[in-house]
Amino acid sequence: MKLITKIRWPLGGALLSSALVIGLSGFAQQAQSSWWGEGHEEGYRAKNAGNPTHIEECGACHIAYPAQLLPKAAWQEILSNLDNHFDEDASLDDATRDELASFLMKHASDSENAGKFKKFTRGIELQNPPIQITELKYFERKHDEINHQRMVINNPDVGSFSQCQACHEKAEQGIFDEDTVNIPNFGRWDD
Ligand code: HEC
Ligand code: HEC
Repeated sequence: MKLITKIRWPLGGALLSSALVIGLSGFAQQAQSSWWGEGHEEGYRAKNAGNPTHIEECGACHIAYPAQLLPKAAWQEILSNLDNHFDEDASLDDATRDELASFLMKHASDSENAGKFKKFTRGIELQNPPIQITELKYFERKHDEINHQRMVINNPDVGSFSQCQACHEKAEQGIFDEDTVNIPNFGRWDD
């Protein structure tokens, strides 16, 4: 708002300046909402969430997280450390790992196939990103109205934000639209 007052003053003329203020704040609002993606134009539906190798190799302990949720560097980092993967051994043979690598790179959040999920790259260093989706700025922003203690940690049917499918009924198909959200023991989000 400071900026607007500053440019408004020297212009003078109540009519002109109020028109300018309305114009500017409208512009700022628009810029902000498209930055954070409050719009619902296309929906969060990841293409190719059903890759059989990915589901088979990466869907045993948690859902096979759609490739569009993380940038290339994060997938690379994950695939380079599968023998020590969040205290689990998730090692693969080289051929399978290479196949997964090219699939994940092709659909990563910073790839041309990311669609609306490109928003998951916001506010992070693409060369040195977090390797957890749940630590991404955009993830945090989208979930900041959820009571972490009550609805997640102490909720026997959720336990952790990493369990996307506990609340997003179609997470395994790569669908995260708001109307598919249902927090167990708390009910639908859009009621
Ligand atoms: C042996 C079990 C196991 C397998 C197999 C496995 N993971 Fe994981 N993964 C974990 C655990 C445990 C975590 C920590 C989060 C949790 O508790 O669910 C995790 C977390 C993750 C996260 C971060 C999720 C978050 O919190 O945002 C990603 C991304 C991930 N795994 C990708 C993969 C990929 C890619 C593969 C296949 C190459 C894979 N995982 C295979 C056990 C596994
Ligand atoms: C405790 C339940 C819960 C868990 C677990 C959860 N989410 Fe969500 N998520 C929500 C709710 C509720 C919203 C809607 C928030 C809002 O719009 O205010 C949401 C919104 C979203 C959105 C934006 C949808 C839209 O149309 O704006 C995306 C994308 C998303 N979550 C992805 C994920 C991913 C990926 C995971 C797992 C790594 C995950 N969520 C885990 C409850 C959850």
